[in-house]
Amino acid sequence: MKFLNSLKSKNLSDKTCILRVDFNVEEGELIEKSPRFISAVNTIKFLNNRGTKVVVLSHRGRPNNQQPTTNNRQLSLRPFIHILYKHLKKPVYFTDLDEKNLREKIKNSKPESIFLLENLRFYPGEDKNDKNFAKKIARLGDFYVNDAFAFSHRKTASMAAITNFLPSYAGPTLEKEIKHLNAAFKQHKKPLVLVLGGVKISTKMGLIKNFWNRADYFLIGSAMADNFLLAQGLPIGDSVYEKEMVPFAKKLLNSTHSTGSGRVKIILPIDFAIQNKKILDIGEKTEKQFSEIIKKAKTIIWNGPIGQYEIPKFAKGTYAVMEAILKNKNAKIIIGGGETTAAISKYRSAVSKRKNVFVSTGGGAMLEYLSGKKLPGIEALK
Ligand code: 3PG
Repeated sequence: MKFLNSLKSKNLSDKTCILRVDFNVEEGELIEKSPRFISAVNTIKFLNNRGTKVVVLSHRGRPNNQQPTTNNRQLSLRPFIHILYKHLKKPVYFTDLDEKNLREKIKNSKPESIFLLENLRFYPGEDKNDKNFAKKIARLGDFYVNDAFAFSHRKTASMAAITNFLPSYAGPTLEKEIKHLNAAFKQHKKPLVLVLGGVKISTKMGLIKNFWNRADYFLIGSAMADNFLLAQGLPIGDSVYEKEMVPFAKKLLNSTHSTGSGRVKIILPIDFAIQNKKILDIGEKTEKQFSEIIKKAKTIIWNGPIGQYEIPKFAKGTYAVMEAILKNKNAKIIIGGGETTAAISKYRSAVSKRKNVFVSTGGGAMLEYLSGKKLPGIEALK
């Protein structure tokens, strides 16, 4: 795999880069505070500073490859021109892939010009990984950069097929993600603690399996924990769980005992915040228990909020984990998942000052990468 960082400036000047980023920011999250947006802006600046023109590509939401209509117009990338302008201090030319003479317009534009293409998922070719669609995009530039780690688990035209038509590189965001996630998996210090929350245990099954023999503790919160409570025969009222996942939870609990290490690997909530017969957050005793383990950890991977953080009174568990993490100045910490980063947005400036904390831009991509899967967007660069 070739990296943009390794290219000499002279290879970049007067060229046009087709830059794939991920502007698919979690609903309710402020776009310009999102790690995805911030990292994309840094890469555009990196290219511009070397005299490169940039054609920025992204998807947003899931408009089912339909052209914009009144129902999906909110998924347009048009609003990004103003936000990009604010951060780049230069105009951004918004365009449609079908615009007449687009190639010539880009060719004749000034060095360091920036173009933003409309949401690629408004076109039928993107999700189909269509070669002709990829070729149409590739015609606009001289080289391609994948800086969309968060979308690298999707095999689409702008992630995979396009690499057949242009010299292709991994951007700085992708490079950083690979470095941090590889280190967490292969070179971590112990105790290694995984903090897992969110609604679905099924999306984290691969990650749990891949880390089962490596992690010292799995601290489980949110609706994910309900599957384990049920597997132990405990009542969960009307709480959310995944029926088909309960046997998996049971198997994990049983293999914890059979390891004979005398230590319980899976740490489940012992008290709860409940409303309308639904468990919506962990209680104070659990917060303390989780915090004690986090305090002693040397490596922490956190994905998924611990309770229903959108309702302030059920965000306490998530905040308790965040505060415990901020107190641990020695561990190498990775935080990821769109919902997790949205949930901890009020800690963003505290987090950004901490050298030992890496906030991944990935949601599903981070989970798949840490599950040991090969991501098509990364494979295509090899
Ligand atoms: C994400 O938000 O995780 C990525 O942008 C992938 O989006 P998708 O799940 O809609 O393909």
